[in-house]
Amino acid sequence: MHPMLNIGIRAARNAGNIIAKAYENLDQVETQSKGANDYVTNIDKAAERTIIETIQKSYPEHGIVAEESGITQGANSDFQWVIDPLDGTTNFIKGIPHFAVSVALQVKGKTEHAVIYDPLSNELFTASRGQGAQLNGYRLRVTKLRDLEGAVIATGLPFKQKHLTETYFAMLHDVFEDCGDIRRAGSAALDLAYVAAGRLDGYFELGLKPWDLAAGELIVREAGALVTDVAGGYNFYKTGNIVTANPKVLKEILSKLRPHLSDSMK
Ligand code: IPD
Ligand code: CA
Ligand code: CA
Ligand code: CA
Repeated sequence: MHPMLNIGIRAARNAGNIIAKAYENLDQVETQSKGANDYVTNIDKAAERTIIETIQKSYPEHGIVAEESGITQGANSDFQWVIDPLDGTTNFIKGIPHFAVSVALQVKGKTEHAVIYDPLSNELFTASRGQGAQLNGYRLRVTKLRDLEGAVIATGLPFKQKHLTETYFAMLHDVFEDCGDIRRAGSAALDLAYVAAGRLDGYFELGLKPWDLAAGELIVREAGALVTDVAGGYNFYKTGNIVTANPKVLKEILSKLRPHLSDSMK
């Protein structure tokens, strides 16, 4: 295993331990509002501190992009860690046991290593570019469906961007009409990891941030999925709009989403 992946795993596990411990005493968790329907807790922040400390102990010259503390330029700007300390904060606050830590390392803008860790189920999803994706050491593959019939597709609602409601539901309507069923589980990172694991047949969401998708994007691709934006291009970091599935199912999902795409979403 690459030493940088190893550090990513150590960082994610350290954060996961803090989160799992805090989950046992949720009434002591302190929640703050960051904006409309957008929350952060002292545990998100503590988890993020641990991740950054763990990384900087081994790689003090690397840069950091983290949800709760923003960008830290490193002396070596080729290396950048993209961190979501707690993906699924709303689930965590509500006591819904579905959230994860997401850590990715990008080298010259390309994601090389990725870790998603679910601390309650102790599931560790990992990938290094060109080396495949693993769950607790076992190789992952996406499902082999040929179209949307019977497909279970995950999604996220644009709860922080309610102006997208109409567009989003028009897209969801058209996907739902032809697929088997829909899931909205509340963690983008786990949605991507579950597609990689073949638990879900596809996933789409609008308006994600880089830390929501950096690790999951590599993991799902290394498991055999394609990842695009809603236009079928590769601007998902910029637009935050992401679609993933095996190539055949992806094509079908895109054909449902694209007609509703406005110019501002490209
Ligand atoms: C959120 C979760 C959620 C998705 C949101 C994300 P957070 O991340 O991934 O599933 O629908 O778009 O912001 O804020 O809990 O880290
Ligand atoms: Ca958040
Ligand atoms: Ca997130
Ligand atoms: Ca988060």
